[in-house]
Amino acid sequence: MFSRILARRVVCLAVWLAIILLTWQSVPLLTAAPNAQATAFTFTAVGDLGGSTNTDGVLTGISNAGANFQLTLGDLSYGAYAPETAWCSYVQSKVGATFPFELGAGNHDMDAQPTGHINNFAACLPDRIGNLTGAYGKQYYFDYQNLARIIFISPDLTLDGETYAYTVGSARYDWLVGAIDGARSATLPWVIVAMHKNCISTGVKSCEIGTDLFNLLVAKKVDLVLQGHEHNYQRSKQLALNATCAAIAPNQYDAPCVTDDGTDNTYAKGAGMVLVIVGTGGKGLYASDPLDSEANYFARIAVPGVDVARHGFLQVSVSASALSGQFVGTSPGSTFSDAFRIHTTTLANFTARVVAANRVRLDWTTTSERTLVGFNVWRRRGVRGAFEKLNIARLPVRFAGQPFGAAYFWRDRRALPGNKYFYKLKLIHSDGTGEWSDVIKVKAP
Ligand SMILES: [Fe+2]
Repeated sequence: MFSRILARRVVCLAVWLAIILLTWQSVPLLTAAPNAQATAFTFTAVGDLGGSTNTDGVLTGISNAGANFQLTLGDLSYGAYAPETAWCSYVQSKVGATFPFELGAGNHDMDAQPTGHINNFAACLPDRIGNLTGAYGKQYYFDYQNLARIIFISPDLTLDGETYAYTVGSARYDWLVGAIDGARSATLPWVIVAMHKNCISTGVKSCEIGTDLFNLLVAKKVDLVLQGHEHNYQRSKQLALNATCAAIAPNQYDAPCVTDDGTDNTYAKGAGMVLVIVGTGGKGLYASDPLDSEANYFARIAVPGVDVARHGFLQVSVSASALSGQFVGTSPGSTFSDAFRIHTTTLANFTARVVAANRVRLDWTTTSERTLVGFNVWRRRGVRGAFEKLNIARLPVRFAGQPFGAAYFWRDRRALPGNKYFYKLKLIHSDGTGEWSDVIKVKAP
């Protein structure tokens, strides 16, 4: 009797131990893909607003964009709707009283300006994101949806008696390095740095932020840098330092500093820094000069005689695998627009070869499967055919959520002799977005 009770207790204990062990083992499985739960989000960005009918259009556009927050790139009221509280009320009347209208300072909002002070603007348009590190309106950052770190800095502005300088070795330079590196070591997919003033530009401004800061942003391959100050829209090529580009010097062009010219409006994530100047918030616009000594660093500007510049804002969608930007024009009389995408390149190569009379073998390799869940294979017969999906069930990746890749192959057993076939892969990301490979061609014998 006693031994039967003991045996029952041993079985009970064993069951409990098994449950505890299974639960304990399942914890790492659940946390293996840290960004799989990340929710895509949208924000708007623009500087140099004022309080004109042009500003009305921009603020109404921002309100209609359905964004999660706005990044305001300095030069806020220019004295319109004075004092500062009246301008804040004006903005809130357009975008709503609780919309996160996040502020950065401009030269018109710094010390000793008749047009208002950032401290007063920050009091009536306070931070509504929460969990900020640093001083709101001046130098701070926040992380959003586990996807991006957004950093505001104030180079060449005098705030509360201090002229903010980001020269090598300065405390503010080191703070910025720490903020960028911290985001990378926390494996946040995107780093975005916002400020008012410029360095390279095709407009009227010079390198006021200093070359130390500009080259730091390039060296760190900050994914997206946002600036105002120039009252126009300019999107750069993707820039990076390398063996033949030790630094970018203003007022000249060095081709080796460009890693992607952006003419196809897409960039590979991690290959360099993309700069967007968007000082089109309402004040009178400045021209861009396509013959400027720095013009070759830019992929999209409003070219006089070709484009009519307009007011508007930048709208940015962020997911784990892609950052998509779009200039949303809000003033009439122009169709000037721009759209670009920075996306994760997960495919190292993709090849096709004939292996038998009816068979084509496709081979491909991924470099990272952190955001990838699977593939679909698409094929077109001949030059004029339509692409059709060949596989019925999605082909799963081997290491979903992991930062390393794998090699794959797939056989097309229905390649008819004498035909030309075109293949492409669709890479499916965990956030539901798809990414197309290049199209490759093979001729069945
Ligand atoms: Fe301005």
